[in-house]
Amino acid sequence: MTAQAPHAAFEGFVDDCDCTRIAGWCWRSDQPDASVELVIRDGERELGCTRADKFRRDLLLAGKGNGKHGFHFDLPEEYLLRAEGRLSVRVADAEFELVGSPATVRPLIQELILSPPVFSRYVDGPPLDFGTLRVDIANTCNLFCVYCPTIALRSKERVELASFERFLSQRVSHAQNFAVGCGQEPTTHPELVSFLEAIGNSKAKPSEMFMLVTNGTLLHKHDWARIAKSGLNALYISLDSVDPEVLGGVRTGSKLALIQENVTGLLAAAPGVRLHLNIVVTNRNRGYVEDVIAWGTTQHAASFTLREMYFPPTPNPKPTIEEQELRGLMLEEGQFAALRERLIAKWGPERFVFADRLHLEQEYAYWAPKLV
Ligand SMILES: C[S@@+](CC[C@H](N)C(=O)[O-])C[C@H]1O[C@@H](n2cnc3c(N)ncnc32)[C@H](O)[C@@H]1O
Ligand code: SF4
Repeated sequence: MTAQAPHAAFEGFVDDCDCTRIAGWCWRSDQPDASVELVIRDGERELGCTRADKFRRDLLLAGKGNGKHGFHFDLPEEYLLRAEGRLSVRVADAEFELVGSPATVRPLIQELILSPPVFSRYVDGPPLDFGTLRVDIANTCNLFCVYCPTIALRSKERVELASFERFLSQRVSHAQNFAVGCGQEPTTHPELVSFLEAIGNSKAKPSEMFMLVTNGTLLHKHDWARIAKSGLNALYISLDSVDPEVLGGVRTGSKLALIQENVTGLLAAAPGVRLHLNIVVTNRNRGYVEDVIAWGTTQHAASFTLREMYFPPTPNPKPTIEEQELRGLMLEEGQFAALRERLIAKWGPERFVFADRLHLEQEYAYWAPKLV
């Protein structure tokens, strides 16, 4: 419970409100490290409460106590479908209203992830601006990477091309980035190229990154000349090692030579496409990451994203042997940071993105429930 306080003690702002969330910060200067409880309403209707307790470096630097005063409240799904509303944010008990409240819901989404089981729910509604759209057009994959949490979510469902085109024309007024492939494998959809063309020929053609995210093993099944013309500009390939045995030990079913042929072939056929590599770092391939970077460099790779292997917590109180083995693949404390230092010292920081386990676990916990 927030103790009653004079209004003058509170300070707070709504920074942003789009169709998925309202965010900002709030604190009380007479209790600089305490967090305050906020109530979010649409007119008279209460949507929920949230605590302004998220750490923000800018708040710490601005002298707002310990800096743990940010908030982020996820809006109910209905706002995606009607893209309007005026939301107020007040301190619970004290009824202090934040500056910028009430905030108008903007027809904008920073990031939306869609998969075949949920796709049809989003096809009809008002047009929106997207920061990044990530769409799984198939809900399955041809590989069985040992660490992959989405194996458990696979199904035969696919997005229909007609429904996808309807979504593009109705719901997307602008997209900054568009990724085909997110939690499953887009190349398993036989009409992949038609989906890329549909994006490239619509208002949804992204102003920045137009990405295909894939394991690369089925690319030869698709028409590279048509991919070249679709406007795709980024090929994200997940590749943990360029040693076939090490690769096979983590990305079960991978064929290194085929992936490499597919990548070099597609890059040659589509000069407008730049390569980006995703590398999951485990105990098995930790010592082989530099070789992947050296190979990527020969292909003029624009970026390398290193993802520290994570393993979502399971409710199982007694871990199975399989789970114990997987946990054994995870890096020890400090190893990811050491690898980061080593890579930056050798190659410079420019082309690297590092996503540590904590970050990925939070990301997965956020989007996994939305995929089913
Ligand atoms: C789920 S995959 C889907 C796209 C495509 N099938 C692929 O592998 O690139 C997306 C990315 O997540 C990575 N990934 C999967 N499981 C992971 C885990 N447990 N920890 C870290 N990254 C993981 C994959 O290697 C890939 O780079
Ligand atoms: S290729 Fe991608 S989707 Fe398939 S199992 Fe591996 S990480 Fe998961």
